[in-house]
Amino acid sequence: MTDKNKQSASGGENKEEGLTEVLTEETKFYYPSAAMKENATVKDWDEAIHVAESDPEAFWAEAAEDLEWAEKWKKVLDDSKKPFYKWFVGSKCNIFQNALERHQKTAVKDKIAIISEQEGGRIQKLTYSELYQEVNKFAAALKKLGITKGDRVAVYLPNIPETAITMLACAKLGAIHSVVYAGFSYLALRDRINDAGAKLLVTANASQRRGKIVNLKKTCDKAVEEDCLSIEYMIVVKNVDQETIMKEGRDLWFKNITQNEKENVETEIVDGNDPLFVLYTSGTTSKPKGVVHDHAGYMVGVNRTFKWVFDLKEDDVYWCTADPGWITGHSYIIYGPLMAGITNIMYEGVPDYPENDRIWEMIERHKITILYTAPTLVRLMMKYGDEPPKKHNLATLRLLGSVGEPINPEAWRWFYRVIGQEKCPIMDTWWQTETGMFMITPLPVAALKAGSATRPFPSIKASIVDKKGQRVPVGKGGFLAINNPWPAMLNTLWRNPERYLETYWEKIPNVYTTGDMGFVDKDGYFWIQGRADDVMNISGHRIGTAEIESALVSHEAVVEAGVIGKPHPIKGESAKGFVILKKGFEPSDELIDALKKHIRNTLGPIAIVDEVEFVDKLPKTRSGKIMRRVLKAKELGLPLGDISTLED
Ligand code: PRX
Repeated sequence: MTDKNKQSASGGENKEEGLTEVLTEETKFYYPSAAMKENATVKDWDEAIHVAESDPEAFWAEAAEDLEWAEKWKKVLDDSKKPFYKWFVGSKCNIFQNALERHQKTAVKDKIAIISEQEGGRIQKLTYSELYQEVNKFAAALKKLGITKGDRVAVYLPNIPETAITMLACAKLGAIHSVVYAGFSYLALRDRINDAGAKLLVTANASQRRGKIVNLKKTCDKAVEEDCLSIEYMIVVKNVDQETIMKEGRDLWFKNITQNEKENVETEIVDGNDPLFVLYTSGTTSKPKGVVHDHAGYMVGVNRTFKWVFDLKEDDVYWCTADPGWITGHSYIIYGPLMAGITNIMYEGVPDYPENDRIWEMIERHKITILYTAPTLVRLMMKYGDEPPKKHNLATLRLLGSVGEPINPEAWRWFYRVIGQEKCPIMDTWWQTETGMFMITPLPVAALKAGSATRPFPSIKASIVDKKGQRVPVGKGGFLAINNPWPAMLNTLWRNPERYLETYWEKIPNVYTTGDMGFVDKDGYFWIQGRADDVMNISGHRIGTAEIESALVSHEAVVEAGVIGKPHPIKGESAKGFVILKKGFEPSDELIDALKKHIRNTLGPIAIVDEVEFVDKLPKTRSGKIMRRVLKAKELGLPLGDISTLED
C-alpha cells in the first residue's frame, strides 16, 4: 500500500491507545500470489481506489458502459433531492437485458448458466439459452394472469432455478419482485405480502432440508388465508414428489401454465430509476422494512463489484451458499453471476448432509473455482475438523469469499489454510440489504488481514464516526458510516420514505448510518464488530459482543459462542457468554476460568466476561446468525419478541 493511501484511508496517525492494541497478531498481512496478480483484471488496488476516489461519477459511468442500455443516462448522479439520490437519471433499460437477453447474441448462450442440485441428489442444468426461454415462457404466463409493470409479485421459493426464472420474469415485465426467504413463518410471509400489496405468490409444494420435506405450500396457504386479500393467484412449482392440495380458481401449477407457452414477450423497457424489487429486512422495530432497489444503479453496482471482487474469468464455476431470499442471493446468486455470464451453482439443502463433507464433495465434483460463504458455515465445518475437506480434491478453488457477519480470525485462518490451501485469497465482503452491493471489501490483489474486510471498494468513502458524525481516532470504536452515495444504494423504504430518512440519514448528521460498529486500524483497514445494538458498554468501555465471541472461539475448546450484555448495577453492563464446546472438552469451573483469562489476554482488560454458560445449541436465524436478542430475553426472563426467523 502506498503511504498516500494509508494516510487518507486511516485519517492520519494517532497515538491514543485503543482496541487495535489487542490485534497485534492480526497486523500480519497475507499477500496474493504472483500468478493472482498477473492475471487479475485490477492489478493495482491502491491505484483503482485513487482513480475512483478522484472522480466517483466518472468511475461509475465507465462501469455502466459494460452494460446494455435502451437509452443512456442524461446524468450520472442527481443529488438535488438528497438523500433520495438518483443514479443514471434519464436512462431506459431493464436488468433482464443484461442478465440474459444480450447473452443470446454471443457464445455465452450455449454455456451452462445454472447447475442446480437438490439435497437428495437431483441435478438439473440450464444453459443461458434454455434459461432465457424458460423466463420468456413464465413472463408470458404472468402476463396472461394480469401482471404488468409496477405490480408486486411475492416469491416464497427454495434455492432452485424457478426462483431465478420468477425473479427474471418479473424484471422482464417491469413487475416488482418481493422474495421472502422460504424459512419465514406464515405470519411473517403474510405481513410482507400485505405491506407490498402483492397480487400473486409463487411458491413450491415443498423443499428438502436435512433429509426432511418442508411443506412450503401449506405455509403459503396459511399466510394467504389469514387476512391476505391482495393475492389473486398462487403459482406452485412441483419441486418434490408428494401430494399437494390445490385450491380451485386460485392455485396453478408452474409447469401447466408454462409448458405450452409460445408467446414471445417483449422486454419492458423501464425508466432506470423504476423499482426492480422490494426486499424486507429486520429493523429495530418489529415491523420489517421494505428495501427498494431500482434497475439502473443496482445493475451497475452489482456488475462492477462482482466482476472486480471475484476477478471473474470466463470458465469460472461459482458457488454462493446463501439463499436467493436474502440480498446476497439477489445480487450474487441471481443478477451478478448472470450478468457476468458465468456458471452458477444453486444448491437446495444443507452443506453437511447426508455427510459432513457434502460441501467439499460438491466442490470437487462440480470443479468449483469460487466459493462465497458465511463465517457461521466456516465455523461449522471447522468443528468437523480437517479430515472431511482433506478427503477431497479442492484444487480447482482459486478464490474464497465471506459475508454476513464478522469472520473471526481463527475461522479466517482455517478457511485460508485448509480450504484455500494458502493460495486462495479470502474476500471478506461487508455490505447490507440496503447497500445492494459490496461496500468494504478487498480485491484479489489486496494484502489481507485475517478478520478484516479491509478497505472500501473503489469510490466508496466509509468512516468510523461518533454520534455527531465526527470521525473517531484510529483504533477507537465507533459507528460505521458511508460518506458518499453509491449506485446500488436503496432508493427508499417501500411506501415509507419517512422511515428511510429516519433510519439511515437522521441518526447521525450528513452520513448514511449503517447501524454497525467498528474501527479502522493504522493501515486504514476496517474491522467490523457487529450491529450497534449488539455493542455493550462495560464500565464506560464500548465493546462488541462479536469481538468477545471471536475471542472465545479462538480458544481451542470452543466451537461457537454467543455473547450478550446484561444490566449491571456498577459497571452498567456485564457480559455473559454462551459457549458450545468442541468434542472432547468437558464443562468445568477450570475451563470457565481459562476462557475468561483467554478473553482478557486476547482483547485486553476491558473485555471482562462475568459469566460463561455451556450450551448445546445457540438460537440462530435460518441464515445462521446468532440471535443474541433471544439469548438476552431468555436470560433476563423477558418476552422473546418476534422469533419467526428462529431456526429451531
Ligand atoms: O452487521 C453487518 C453484517 O450483516 C449486516 C447486513 O445484514 P443483511 O442486510 O442481512 O445483509 C447480509 C449480507 C450482505 C451488516 O450490517 N455483515 C455483513 N457482511 C459482513 C457483516 N459484518 C461483518 N463483516 C462482513 N463481511
